[in-house]
Amino acid sequence: MAQILWTESLSVGIREIDEQHKVLIEMINELSTLTSTDEKNSVVPSVISRLVNYTRDHFSFEEGLLGKVSDQHGQRHKGEHAAFISKIEDYMEACGSGYTPYADLVEYLREYWLVQHIEQVDKELGRLLSA
Ligand SMILES: [Fe+2]
Ligand SMILES: [Fe+2]
Repeated sequence: MAQILWTESLSVGIREIDEQHKVLIEMINELSTLTSTDEKNSVVPSVISRLVNYTRDHFSFEEGLLGKVSDQHGQRHKGEHAAFISKIEDYMEACGSGYTPYADLVEYLREYWLVQHIEQVDKELGRLLSA
């Protein structure tokens, strides 16, 4: 699967958030590479838990800024973060039970998390903060 590259088109206009997104993209690329190797079952769970830990910190950082914007945006933004964490936890549980839907997981991370959430929600936060 092709690697994702961070480009200016993914910028939300807030330097710290962009830097954190770059780290997340690297982790998702690493995960994507590992899921097609023979060692996947031994290494993927630890990469996923690192990703989840980093993501929680990243979400806390963004949520710390929500007090400065409308409640409407805040509710939607927090709701998407919570849904994302719960989905990833489902995947982790599935991995623990021996079923390993890695391709689904990588696709979800790339399509939903990277493209959709950054494009629609994180960018809106950036716009609201600079308004
Ligand atoms: Fe976000
Ligand atoms: Fe984000």
